[in-house]
Parts: sequence; structure tokens; C-alpha cells
Amino acid sequence: MALQLVAVLAIIVVDNEIRVAHGLAVIIVGEDPASQVYVRNKKKDCDEVGFNSEVIALPENTEEKELLALIDTLNKREDIHGILVQLPLPKHINEDAVINTISPEKDVDAFHPENVGHIMIGDYTFLPCTPAGIMEMLKFYNISVAGKKCVVIGRSNIVGKPMALMLLEKNATVTIAHSRTKNLKELTKEADVVVVAIGKAKFVTEDMVKEGAVIVDVGINRIDGVLYGDVDFENVEKKASYITPVPGGVGPLTIAMLLLNTVTAFIEQNK
Ligand code: GUN
Repeated sequence: MALQLVAVLAIIVVDNEIRVAHGLAVIIVGEDPASQVYVRNKKKDCDEVGFNSEVIALPENTEEKELLALIDTLNKREDIHGILVQLPLPKHINEDAVINTISPEKDVDAFHPENVGHIMIGDYTFLPCTPAGIMEMLKFYNISVAGKKCVVIGRSNIVGKPMALMLLEKNATVTIAHSRTKNLKELTKEADVVVVAIGKAKFVTEDMVKEGAVIVDVGINRIDGVLYGDVDFENVEKKASYITPVPGGVGPLTIAMLLLNTVTAFIEQNK
């Protein structure tokens, strides 16, 4: 459904010409198997909606300066509207330097400090894809978070922190929990909404959640080739009013939001 929505938005009229919002460059460095799957899925969905996507796969030993030079070239290309560098990067490459090099106008991940600052004050062009997808999903199911207790488990720049800000913007009372949080269960047991992005398989168990809670699972943990979320789905499902599965829950929404951000980037760059 979300992909079809993006496909419709992707066709726009510029100077009386119908154009397709194409031009997403996805860079992957190294052989991380999970990243390879994510990038393949992004490419597949881009193809499905007719975007012109380029996947640039670089070897593990790529030097930071080579990567920065590539981003610089993509920043200047008029046919590329969005640039995404798949994270994590190999240890010898400074992620901040990479993110800072992406032109904020093409930063469809919304990771550049300029875009993060805009989000902080509620005046933004792009939202980070995973939390934005979660907010769209809550809206789709008419789940209002206003006045509700929301616990976000995980404080990453990709999910936890922006998720908390977006929930706050919708008037939720938000707690951010993380690996050093004491008595986590006391917090989650009170929560109307729990978003978990901590990267530990089946971390949230039935005894940690309130009857009727909304549970959003961002985790993707691969154990012996099988995917598990951060939630013990089979047991927590019995208590939750809504719960997202892994795979097939938040993941596809993330890509839909990436495509939407690429459309936005295209429109902004063609104004
Ligand atoms: N790695 C895991 N999630 C993401 C994401 O949303 N964007 C990028 N660039 N890398 C990721």
C-alpha cells in the first residue's frame, strides 16, 4: 500500500512535462550480509516504483577519502536527488565525516546534522525513514499517541532519538530507555506504546508489557539464518492490542519512507 502511494507521488509535472522522480544513489561498503540484504530490498522497491536507482558497491578496504570523493561527485550530479550510504561502515571509515559530506538537500536518510537540527525544532524537509514509517503506521491504524506513555528502547541516531522526538511532536509523554537503564520493566509495564530498537533477539518479553499495549519491533537479529525481532512475538502478541512482526513489519515501511524522501528531494531540487 505504502509503495503504491509513493509510486503515485513519483510522477510530477515540471515545466509542463511529466517526469518521474528518479535518482537515488545507494552506496554500500564491504560485505556485511545484513546490509547487503537491506540494499537489495531498497533496489528492488526502487525498481518496482520506477525510480532510477544506482547501487554503488565498494570493497571493504575502500579508503575514506575515496568514499568522500564519490559522495562529492554524487552531490554535484543533477540526475541524483537522493544519496544514502548504508550503515554501518567499516571501522576505518569515520561515519560522521561521511554523513557530513552528503549534501543536506540530498540526505534522504535525514542523518546530516543540518537536517537533524531542523527535526529538533520541528521545521524539516526529511524525516529519518524508520521512525517516519512507524509514525505513518500509527496514523494508518488510528493510534493516537497524544497524552500516552511511550517508551523507546534504544538511543541510536537512526531510530531511538528521532523516534522519541517524533512521538513528542505528537504530544506523547516519552521515555528513552537504553542498555544502562535500571528497572526497565517498571517503565515498559506502564507504557501504552513500546518501540524497541536495541538489537537483541526476543529482548522484550510478555512480563514486561501492559495488557493492550502497542508494540513496535524495529529489531532485525539473524540467528542461524533465521530472523528475529527484539520482541518475543509469540508471547507478547497475546497481550498486545497491536504488534509488528519481524520480518514484514517496520522494514518495508522504512523503504517506503526512503522513496518518499527521494520524491521530496526531487521536488525540492526542481523548484
Ligand atoms: N542501516 C540500518 N538502517 C539504516 C538506515 O535507515 N539508513 C542507512 N543509511 N543505513 C542504515
